[in-house]
Amino acid sequence: MSIEYPDGATPLDPDEMEGLKFKHVTTRGQLDHLEQANIQDGLVWLQRNKDTDILNEGFVRELHKRLFGDVWAWTGTFRQTEKNIGIDPVQIGVQLRILLDDTGFWIENGTYEPLEAAVRFHHRLVYVHVFPNGNGRHARIMADAMLTKLLKVDPIDWAGGYDLQAMNERREQYIQALRAADGGDIKLLMRFVSDE
Ligand SMILES: Nc1ncnc2c1ncn2[C@@H]1O[C@H](COP(=O)(O)OP(=O)(O)O)[C@@H](O)[C@H]1O
Ligand SMILES: [Mg+2]
Repeated sequence: MSIEYPDGATPLDPDEMEGLKFKHVTTRGQLDHLEQANIQDGLVWLQRNKDTDILNEGFVRELHKRLFGDVWAWTGTFRQTEKNIGIDPVQIGVQLRILLDDTGFWIENGTYEPLEAAVRFHHRLVYVHVFPNGNGRHARIMADAMLTKLLKVDPIDWAGGYDLQAMNERREQYIQALRAADGGDIKLLMRFVSDE
């Protein structure tokens, strides 16, 4: 299958493509559809799961498996290849641990308002880029789980009526805001998630 990727997406390498569980898939549209169905099931699992112990490696990996595990064989396992986004793969375990610990600290101490804590957490999670694929969607759902389960506030309206997986104005703003956050400036990302 040849996949066209929107700007800011992570291309899969041939080994990772091997992990596709549906061998008949020939288009990006079919793949999106399969992933979307899997994500729906994952979200049902997430809602039913009353566990609030979510800021740990085990939960981060389990959620990824629940969201994408029907479609891909390598879900829940750390990325092993270099991508155009993300840290060196050998650093993933340690950096994820630091991020989860920092996030727990912010929550305990009220370091940031809930929305800012979720935005900072989301950005750093996609920046680490834990998995070969699905990091954007997984990290948006993780941020929402943190908001709803731990901080007891509403989730973020990420897509704002658009399809955030497709190339459109809203995705362009989102990717630009993440790039600004890579440079330490989270204002754009805060504006992106604030409904104005
Ligand atoms: N410059 C960047 N800095 C941090 N994160 C980024 C950057 N560019 C893209 N991303 C994130 O990476 C995601 C793409 O990674 P990918 O693993 O393909 O996730 P998905 O398959 O869910 O879209 C984007 O949706 C976005 O969340
Ligand atoms: Mg992707």
